[in-house]
Amino acid sequence: MVHLTRLLAADSPGAIDMAADALRRGELVGLPTETVYGLAADATSSQAVAKIYAAKGRPQFNPLIILVQSLDEANMHGVIPPALDRLAERFWPGPLTLVVPARKESPVAELARAGLETIALRVPAHPVAQAVIKATGRPLAAPSANRSGHVTTTEARHVADDLGPAISLVLDAGRSERGLESTIVGAFDGRLVQLRAGAIARGELELAAGVAVLSARQGSGPMAPGMLAKHYAPSARLRLEAQKPIEGEAYLGFGPLPQIAPGCGPVLNLSAAGDMMEAAANLFSHLRQLDEQKVAAIAIAPIPHHGIGEAINDRLARAALGR
Ligand code: TXA
Ligand code: MG
Repeated sequence: MVHLTRLLAADSPGAIDMAADALRRGELVGLPTETVYGLAADATSSQAVAKIYAAKGRPQFNPLIILVQSLDEANMHGVIPPALDRLAERFWPGPLTLVVPARKESPVAELARAGLETIALRVPAHPVAQAVIKATGRPLAAPSANRSGHVTTTEARHVADDLGPAISLVLDAGRSERGLESTIVGAFDGRLVQLRAGAIARGELELAAGVAVLSARQGSGPMAPGMLAKHYAPSARLRLEAQKPIEGEAYLGFGPLPQIAPGCGPVLNLSAAGDMMEAAANLFSHLRQLDEQKVAAIAIAPIPHHGIGEAINDRLARAALGR
């Protein structure tokens, strides 16, 4: 089957609604922003978010940037401390991403955060990005629209060339104005840290914030292990590559379930059909559900290591290392 990715001029009639409809159906859309093109999906759907990871071909679930309409909307998803609020007031909409503690009540899928307790939020300035977020009515997960390890894309046809088979629609708004990704800033122990250099220089951030902004390489404090990468770790012990649970263990299956002996804990299946995308979409919520049953251990079925399975296994291996 020949797959054609549709390049659609963003200012052609109906283009915005077509993109919004595709996003609401759970599809991926190439989205122009003022920094670089984004690979957008409905951030509230873990199935749609799983498609991003599969399309990018990353061996890990890197947390994704969530695009929202406004500072008010950002406040619904994350707890923005005052120093970062000053940056948001100054630079949003624009090429600034804030990493802040995620709110429990945010509908953004945990998979989009890769299980972190923090969430990366940005209000893009590009009118097309703004219009699509508004028309979709949902926050959009949007990493840069390139396969893992490939260069970031700043033109619609490059997006189609790089990700062709994975996306049905790319909105073409010409070349990205900035051509450089957003600057990412977080607050850790009350200090501002630039996690990624980008379109806004650190000096500009410092002027607006009125305090120093450390670069991630500076000093050991803010980069202390566990601070930036506080992954979700279940309190139950994890036993990986388990064909079946033993007494007292909960079981997280994949594909057809084995015979479960009496005395075992609750059982959930990542995907009865053995579908890896479905498994990725269910991973965090199922782990959490089993962990909430207060079992001592969760046995987990072997998951194939190819495709998005690599990222699933990477995540499971980290979770198994524990708290
Ligand atoms: O300019 C941009 O920000 C573009 C446009 C499309 O918005 N997006 C972009 O996304 O550059 P991406 O996926 O290429 O880079 C996102 C970066 C990754 O380095 C990721 O690790 C970091 O954001 N990130 C996301 N959530 C994070 C979190 N909770 N904590 C720390 N870093 C986070
Ligand atoms: Mg990137």
